Amino acid sequence: MKQVTPYQAKTFDLHGLNGISDRTMDTHFTLYEGYVKETNRLADHIREILKDGKVDQEEMPAYSELKRRLGFEYNGMVLHEYYFENMKKGGGSDPGRHSPFMQAAEAGFGSYELWKTDFASVGKMRGVGWAMCYLNPSNGELSNHWVTLHEIGNVAGFVPVLVMDVWEHAFILDHKPSERAAYIEAFFSNINWQALEQRLNAPARAYKATG
Ligand SMILES: [Fe+2]
Repeated sequence: MKQVTPYQAKTFDLHGLNGISDRTMDTHFTLYEGYVKETNRLADHIREILKDGKVDQEEMPAYSELKRRLGFEYNGMVLHEYYFENMKKGGGSDPGRHSPFMQAAEAGFGSYELWKTDFASVGKMRGVGWAMCYLNPSNGELSNHWVTLHEIGNVAGFVPVLVMDVWEHAFILDHKPSERAAYIEAFFSNINWQALEQRLNAPARAYKATG
């Protein structure tokens, strides 16, 4: 069977953010590295089962469970990379008056403020998950969605443009569980708008390009 290169955890220079402490980020990087490790481990197990060219009936329960878990771990890895890449030290909450993101938000929502209200409100939804702003490649519009855990609710073919982790581990060291709104404002003050522009301009390559 073909030799497969395991996924490597990326590193991110994200100390010194506004309202999100270095301790939070270090904890979060460790969690992310766990997703990378587990993705590789599950993929190895699956390859092992496939080694003889078939999935036997007795292998099917284990195979099914591995595949289900892979969805969780794989999306956990990838969404964290989008999230870390769309923040930076010295980022900001203003995309720029004439920026492509501002134009896309105005075209789809009438105003940036209304787009932000929609996205931030998704982030305040009860439950464990992510607020996602996608580009719909079929019409070029922005579309905000809730993803439960890491893998439930991702829209097939849509391109992530802004990704916000709202699991409590993203802010619990800095804010109380009831203060998610304060974390969301802190997140907004650290956005890397250049990363979003890359994702909007070259959606097919954006994931790799911002890595
Ligand atoms: Fe997270």
